[in-house]
Amino acid sequence: MKIGIVGGTGGMGEGFAMRWCVKHDVIIGSRDSQKAKEAATNYINAARQSYGPNASISGSITGDDNISLAKNSDVLILSIPYESIEDTCSRLASQVRSDCIVVSPIVPMTKTENGFVYIPLEEHGKRTAGEWVADKMAPRSRVISAFHTISEMKLKNVNLNLDADTFVCGDDPQQVTKLGGLASEISGLRPVYLGPLSLTYQAEVLTPMLLNAAKRNKMKNPGVKLI
Ligand SMILES: NC(=O)c1ccc[n+]([C@@H]2O[C@H](COP(=O)([O-])OP(=O)(O)OC[C@H]3O[C@@H](n4cnc5c(N)ncnc54)[C@H](OP(=O)(O)O)[C@@H]3O)[C@@H](O)[C@H]2O)c1
Repeated sequence: MKIGIVGGTGGMGEGFAMRWCVKHDVIIGSRDSQKAKEAATNYINAARQSYGPNASISGSITGDDNISLAKNSDVLILSIPYESIEDTCSRLASQVRSDCIVVSPIVPMTKTENGFVYIPLEEHGKRTAGEWVADKMAPRSRVISAFHTISEMKLKNVNLNLDADTFVCGDDPQQVTKLGGLASEISGLRPVYLGPLSLTYQAEVLTPMLLNAAKRNKMKNPGVKLI
């Protein structure tokens, strides 16, 4: 499978690439193709070193600009800040293939004097990330939201079993299943279907909660698991 990661030069992009390169061709995206290529080289070298000489990496990690990779991807992960959804998706929308799944791990979050807060609850009129992406990247059925509560630090440590759940929202059961399969390839990660994309806020809002709990209780990169 060809997995394009828009904004793949960030921490989450690095983690996704290192996990999925074992079986898939990952394309790191950036606004700057040279930066993407350099990141891709660093990630594949880090992956080879982390998995060790006996591990078989049958996929690859390459780099390209965000627009070019969108044309070539079976799955497109939007690993970008909430504030850049409008601009980035406007540029990408006409480029993605009709059968491409678009995934939003985006968390609309900011820090206040009280701690981390969920922007749509704090700022009137601000939308959930998943819904905003769906409006820009029609058809809505292709958009899945997931991975909001996975810490980049844990994702990048490929020898770590995450022992965590990730909530998944989407309107099309087939696309949800496809993305769930990809999520399950990450060691110890269980995809848990929450419901249609209109419920994405229930997944997105967990991240500021986790960060506040972690900070106040000195916990390192906690995740979420249903027991
Ligand atoms: N970090 C985590 O642990 C974590 C956990 C769960 C969910 N998330 C969510 O996952 C997404 C990615 O997280 P991250 O920490 O990797 O993000 P990040 O480092 O803040 O940003 C990722 C990439 O987005 C690109 N970018 C920055 N500003 C942009 C703009 N104005 N327009 C277009 N692209 C821009 C940059 O790439 P270029 O400069 O190369 O274009 C950057 O490397 C975020 O939405 C975050 O809320 C993060």
